Amino acid sequence: MLTIAITGANSGIGLRAARALAATGHHVLALCRDPGRGRTALADINAHAVHPADLIQADLSIPGSIHAAADRVAQTTGHLDVLINNSAVFDQTLRKPHFTPEGHELFWATNHLGPFLLTARLSPLLAAARVPRVINVASKGLLSMPRIRIRFDQLDDPSWFTPTRAYYHAKLAQIMSTFTLADRTEGRLGVTCVRVPAVRLDPDRVAVMPWPLRALYAPKNRMAVPAERLGRTYARLATGPGDLPGRYVDEDLRPVRAPAFAYDAAARERLWEVSQAATGDPVWAW
Ligand SMILES: NC(=O)c1ccc[n+]([C@@H]2O[C@H](COP(=O)([O-])OP(=O)(O)OC[C@H]3O[C@@H](n4cnc5c(N)ncnc54)[C@H](OP(=O)(O)O)[C@@H]3O)[C@@H](O)[C@H]2O)c1
Repeated sequence: MLTIAITGANSGIGLRAARALAATGHHVLALCRDPGRGRTALADINAHAVHPADLIQADLSIPGSIHAAADRVAQTTGHLDVLINNSAVFDQTLRKPHFTPEGHELFWATNHLGPFLLTARLSPLLAAARVPRVINVASKGLLSMPRIRIRFDQLDDPSWFTPTRAYYHAKLAQIMSTFTLADRTEGRLGVTCVRVPAVRLDPDRVAVMPWPLRALYAPKNRMAVPAERLGRTYARLATGPGDLPGRYVDEDLRPVRAPAFAYDAAARERLWEVSQAATGDPVWAW
């Protein structure tokens, strides 16, 4: 039995992965932002769980919430085999940038700084596991942006913001952090990033969209891959034997190329430094 923490476990891919992992005998720590939605998901996950899953509240845009969640995880388990950084904000209705109380743009805070801090805070528990793994999540949509770069001088600058740009910018950072963490841990931690293709959103998420967006999503959603499929991808990465298949893989676990900028070692180091500084210089186990 592996102990596996997954963020955004209350819907979409995260819920499907949590269900699959709990049903196959693993101890799932379901990290969810909203306690009500989290409780509903926990009942769903536990309906077929071999060992009951635990619910831990965690808002990845709020550092205090991440610290509290990491403390709760440490109270729940002495080691963590797998961390799946699945949650993300991709709300296309946010036409203007929003900022956290710490002054970070919301997509950057939630989709990059939050997973970075959570991984650092859980690193002692991961280091205590026999074969620890971290699974990050990016997007196939990045293929349409081969020249995307990290905007180091404008990280929280509203001038370039669109929800799409901010989303892919943070996803590029997730890929780069994956590569850096793999380098830094030198084989002591398995780290990979999944390139998720267009995946069918849950009906409740589409239902709350304003109608123009709903009309746009409806055909795309019909063509998209079922969330269960990607849930199985996460589960295979989390529990599969041997080494992980690569540092950046598609839904079938085939290694794929990241945007060119992700292979710039100096940029990766700079990203690590700015992420450390922006998250309060957390201490890593490695
Ligand atoms: N769906 C796609 O087509 C697609 C394509 C490429 C990549 N991806 C990636 O796949 C992953 C899963 O997406 P999905 O399709 O399963 O979407 P989803 O059903 O909308 O799930 C997103 C999850 O993230 C959580 N979340 C959002 N903001 C959060 C915050 N501040 N703190 C904690 N949790 C937060 C949501 O919680 P709430 O319920 O509280 O909102 C939800 O549980 C994401 O990383 C996404 O970027 C998806």
